[in-house]
Amino acid sequence: MAHYLLQQKLYAIDTVGYRTSDFCYHWAGEMRDLLMGQALRYNFSSAAGILQYPLLPLKNVPANGLGIGLTPLVPLSTLGEQLNINLLVKCEHQNPSGSFKDRETLIAHLGSVERGYHTTIGFSSGNACCSAAHVASRSGQRFIAVVSGDIYHEKLTYMTDRGIDVIIIGGPSCYFEKAYQVFLRAKRHIEFELNGIDDWSVNNPYRVEGDKSIALEIIHQSGHMQGTFQVPDFVVLPTANGSCLSGIWKGFKELFDLGLISKMPKMVSIGIENASPIFELRQHDILTENTKCDLRFLDNKNSSIGSTLIAEESFDLFNGHRAIKESNGFAYEGNARDIRHEYRQLFALEMETLLAHDLMPEPCSVLSLTAVRKMKQERLLRPGDSVVVVFTGHARKSIRLLEEFSNHVPQYNYWLYNQKTRDVRDESCSAEKGEVLSASEHPGDLEKILLSLL
Ligand SMILES: Cc1ncc(COP(=O)(O)O)c(C=O)c1O
Repeated sequence: MAHYLLQQKLYAIDTVGYRTSDFCYHWAGEMRDLLMGQALRYNFSSAAGILQYPLLPLKNVPANGLGIGLTPLVPLSTLGEQLNINLLVKCEHQNPSGSFKDRETLIAHLGSVERGYHTTIGFSSGNACCSAAHVASRSGQRFIAVVSGDIYHEKLTYMTDRGIDVIIIGGPSCYFEKAYQVFLRAKRHIEFELNGIDDWSVNNPYRVEGDKSIALEIIHQSGHMQGTFQVPDFVVLPTANGSCLSGIWKGFKELFDLGLISKMPKMVSIGIENASPIFELRQHDILTENTKCDLRFLDNKNSSIGSTLIAEESFDLFNGHRAIKESNGFAYEGNARDIRHEYRQLFALEMETLLAHDLMPEPCSVLSLTAVRKMKQERLLRPGDSVVVVFTGHARKSIRLLEEFSNHVPQYNYWLYNQKTRDVRDESCSAEKGEVLSASEHPGDLEKILLSLL
């Protein structure tokens, strides 16, 4: 039983499409000590993983965290030396399905269980549905994946290998936002809630609650000085909807309110050029219905390499923007040229570390390093600052794309060869292969397919 008062708070935002609900927690007196004690005991060898986080919106917290979280924090010493900072990577790409989304999905799954849902459906550009495939196949939850046509081939295989049926909306040029509108119309017509279906997509308020554990892990891994936890000066990550950004920030705020830390990091986001609403909002600082990106200005070169980050609207725009503003952080944009540059740098300076720690990020994740480079150019970094960059996704699920890209960076080949010879199938999963079904961009088509599967 939770030792605090949990509320689902409604934010009145008169713009459409942004997340409007959030969980908040209240505690008093000795509850603080109890919660703080739990946060202090967070154990990196515990099977409970992220479920040890003291403030979760769950009545009953199970003991098995499905191997999610507890990811390493690894120094990039050579690159750090060059930039004259203490540079560390939070290896979220080492979560079981290869991204931070596992933290979010686990809490969404437990929320579904507590509210009595037996069937779940999720929409994503790939990583969130892969994560759902991992959690659903491990927990026996029924899950149907709906993805946009620009999904990477490896992500599709990852899901079907785990017995998940996948519906692909549109062809390779159908990106997240376009397909999400199709999904939302089908969701309204089928009336998911009335029919006992829980939606694990971006608007599910349980998701960000999972990201909070990243903050607690970072402070545990940063060590103590004079009895208090060390907090990095900056936490830098690639953003699309801003969910991970706002989740990590929420975590730091809760730890601060509990009295576990005495300072907060500055939060830094980076998205894809002309497809980052959080960057857009940071530029103008006024939240309006027009805080959207016009994807006609998105360069073709950036659209495939950065597809996981492309956003027209951002469902966590309000909270993501708040994270940057409240923390006095920064928002940036990057492009395919930046991604290529960061891979080159990583290979030239950190190859040993990459290989020793299985540290290869998917393309959008290396953009965190671009943000750090830009901060350096703008003299926003002081010598010795500690900077945590979050590698959000693993390159294992974007091998084909990297092969094309690797023409420009020959050092890729050794790593790619090693990855291709690795089996990404989960041996403990005996499920029959899932089906892949195609829906056109006409919502009626998706509805028909979903109804035939339910
Ligand atoms: C690997 C990776 N990094 C970053 C992001 C962006 O996360 P968010 O939408 O929480 O900003 C995504 C979203 O799909 C992702 O898959």
